[in-house]
Amino acid sequence: MQRGRSVSAAARVGRSAREIVARIVVASGIIVVAAVTVAHGQSSAPRTVHKGVYTEEQAIRGQGIYNERCLSCHGETLAGMDQATPLAGPQFGSVWNGVPLEALVTRIGTMPPEAPGSMTRAESVDVLAYILWYNGLPFGDAPLSLAQDSLTKIVFETTPPGKP
Ligand code: HEC
Repeated sequence: MQRGRSVSAAARVGRSAREIVARIVVASGIIVVAAVTVAHGQSSAPRTVHKGVYTEEQAIRGQGIYNERCLSCHGETLAGMDQATPLAGPQFGSVWNGVPLEALVTRIGTMPPEAPGSMTRAESVDVLAYILWYNGLPFGDAPLSLAQDSLTKIVFETTPPGKP
């Protein structure tokens, strides 16, 4: 009898500890939701490439790098040849539409195939600016940032929002 009672007392203690943990989990969930809501309010909608996310200067630098290290395979008009896929136009768009620019920078960093990782991040981002320009996307006042969190928030799109 005595034993049974102490077991149920232990069970009660266990239950209230679980309730405290549950309350902490719920409370921290509310804090996370609140933080996300605030962050969202500040940055508004995800940025797209139609808002002028790179500069002309950056694209020109990218063109120089492209001509030297990419053109021989991907072609002067970025249309691709043989095994090298196009880097502009509908086929490229169908692969990359809706994908964050960070993923594209990472992919560019695997090129050229015989020397992956040979470009600096700044060079890869400059080449990306040239690719955006070649895909008919507008340049703006500020260059593409090298920061991963910034490039993760900008999504590649070839079709302007609101157009079919
Ligand atoms: C020696 C030839 C060659 C060179 C030089 C080269 N590429 Fe490529 N690239 C390829 C081939 C082949 C593929 C497709 C097969 C693969 O994934 O490796 C490709 C794929 C790509 C892709 C993926 C396209 C897609 O839609 O998935 C990108 C982006 C790319 N290259 C960018 C570049 C850039 C930028 C450079 C210059 C820094 C470059 N490439 C230099 C041959 C080359």
